[in-house]
Amino acid sequence: MGILDGKVVIITGAGRGLGRAYALEFAKHGAKLVINDRGTEPNGIGHDAAVAAAVASEVGLDIALANDDDVSTRAGVDALMAAALARFGQVDVLVHNAGFVRDAAILDLDDETWTASINGLLTSTYMMVQAVAKHLISRNAPGQILATTSLIGIHGGAGLPTYAAAKAGIIGYCKSASMELKPHGIAVNVLSPLAYTRLTAPMFADVPNAADLLKPESIADVAVYLASPLASNITGTVVDVQGPRVALIRSTQAEGVVASRGPRWTPEELHERWSEF
Ligand SMILES: NC(=O)c1ccc[n+]([C@@H]2O[C@H](COP(=O)([O-])OP(=O)(O)OC[C@H]3O[C@@H](n4cnc5c(N)ncnc54)[C@H](O)[C@@H]3O)[C@@H](O)[C@H]2O)c1
Repeated sequence: MGILDGKVVIITGAGRGLGRAYALEFAKHGAKLVINDRGTEPNGIGHDAAVAAAVASEVGLDIALANDDDVSTRAGVDALMAAALARFGQVDVLVHNAGFVRDAAILDLDDETWTASINGLLTSTYMMVQAVAKHLISRNAPGQILATTSLIGIHGGAGLPTYAAAKAGIIGYCKSASMELKPHGIAVNVLSPLAYTRLTAPMFADVPNAADLLKPESIADVAVYLASPLASNITGTVVDVQGPRVALIRSTQAEGVVASRGPRWTPEELHERWSEF
């Protein structure tokens, strides 16, 4: 008996890195899998159908379907959903993990880079979450959805303004989705992973044991839990996972300070009291 027995799970970007680790772990726990991966370069450009096919073969074609549709396009999302339903007849869990880094410092940024990155990260999240939610509601079935943000979406990152904007947008979108979909029994959570993959390898060039400390498998353990019936009541959370360390990311707001000289602030009082806020 596996914790995900009978569940049909779509994992996007499941051909490499985190998504591949999720696929291998979800299979161990009994899930049936739609292994979506476009097979792109780290910058999201290119197409190689062999990438998804290799992971589907690795987990076993009896339980897995390979799919190389591009989830940054409406046609790709529609084709992926149609393929999943043709093979398994239902979808219970979405792990939307596909992503890439294509960005530039603000003064060098151009419209094409901005649009490609927003489409690949944020618009794909909007379309995949909506498509799976519509399917679940049409079956009157509960479901669990996981999307993917980044600490850069929370804190920002110099040189990564588009990636940061998209990853922050994913949090706002998914928190809203969690509120709207809760009455339908659909949970929506967001993972903020940190793991050694081809995307982060350059960042960890000076950390010799990064590959051992930050294994994608550690993130996969948390993804399995959040996709399982044990976590069906957890929704609207942002979960940071770095190796074996798990932390919820909560937004906080200071208590606030009221203007002392009447109902409105003057520039002078704001300046005097800025440190109190
Ligand atoms: N590795 C980290 O530490 C880290 C940190 C924060 C966020 N993330 C996020 O986690 C996710 C996975 O990252 P990773 O490190 O495993 O990267 P990765 O490059 O190893 O894997 C991402 C996969 O997504 C696929 N992909 C890209 N665009 C696609 C599209 N439009 N349609 C279908 N497939 C597509 C790629 O072909 C690739 O195989 C991404 O969303 C990334 O932004 C990763």
